[in-house]
Amino acid sequence: MICQIEITTYCNAQCFYCPNEYLPKHHMALEEFQTIVDNCPKGSTVLMQGTGEPLLHPRFWEMVVYVKSKNNLNVGIITNGTIPMNEMQLGQIDTLGISVDTLSAATAERSGRPDLIPIISSVLHYHSLVPGKVRIYAVDFGQDINPLQAFAKNHGIGLNIQRIQGKSVYQKRYQTPTLPYRYLRCRYIENEIHRFVFVNGKHAPCAYMVDSHSALSAEEISRHFKAGRVPPCCSQCGELVGIPRLSIKIEGKRRT
Ligand SMILES: C[S@@+](CC[C@H](N)C(=O)[O-])C[C@H]1O[C@@H](n2cnc3c(N)ncnc32)[C@H](O)[C@@H]1O
Ligand code: SF4
Ligand code: SF4
Repeated sequence: MICQIEITTYCNAQCFYCPNEYLPKHHMALEEFQTIVDNCPKGSTVLMQGTGEPLLHPRFWEMVVYVKSKNNLNVGIITNGTIPMNEMQLGQIDTLGISVDTLSAATAERSGRPDLIPIISSVLHYHSLVPGKVRIYAVDFGQDINPLQAFAKNHGIGLNIQRIQGKSVYQKRYQTPTLPYRYLRCRYIENEIHRFVFVNGKHAPCAYMVDSHSALSAEEISRHFKAGRVPPCCSQCGELVGIPRLSIKIEGKRRT
């Protein structure tokens, strides 16, 4: 199970495809984080990230140490790569996702992710320090993805290419076509495979609701589906229109 905790909604980037700038800004209190972690099932991965940059949380490393003190939990993050980490800190993270969409500095800058060159250097540096832990997360928004794919393959770094979100709640500054619903069921509702906790402490069954105010519980969503309706928090979700979020997944290699 993934226990995903949105520890902050602060961010230092403005990616055109991300609704972060429309969210109220808040850091979760360390004590609240600890209580949530205490209730994560054994063997879970605590994914410390929501719609914000996790490394901006002033108590981020205390949070990581707390999760690791539990022995039966793993720590995962996805970061925009702008805030450096040292070898000791990297050693505490079990899975390190870094968001890079392109090898073109101009495309990255236009998308709202500046400083591409130092971020790529960090990806390679971290991969040399903790081989097998680093994974690149790219959003496919129509850019030429082949150079990034070749880069990941050449360096043996894992890569997830995610389609740009079709969900309405993400689409403040872009639009994808509205698609007919194919299913009124969702694996996140049928089984508790993902637990998402918003920065304000509210829970959701998946990480794709973005706005805590419109997010419903699994039971409420299930009632809508049974009545033949799609609630606003699930509007145009890939689970329902039948389009997977991930378009390409490449496994990374551990260096020997
Ligand atoms: C919301 S960010 C939070 C972590 C960190 N700030 C970062 O950018 O890596 C988590 C992931 O969601 C992805 N993401 C954000 N908006 C998206 C969208 N509209 N479609 C697909 N992925 C998106 C980001 O590219 C990133 O890989
Ligand atoms: S995708 Fe990440 S880095 Fe970009 S604006 Fe959203 S939270 Fe910030
Ligand atoms: S937003 Fe999508 S993944 Fe989340 S509960 Fe709704 S249909 Fe399922």
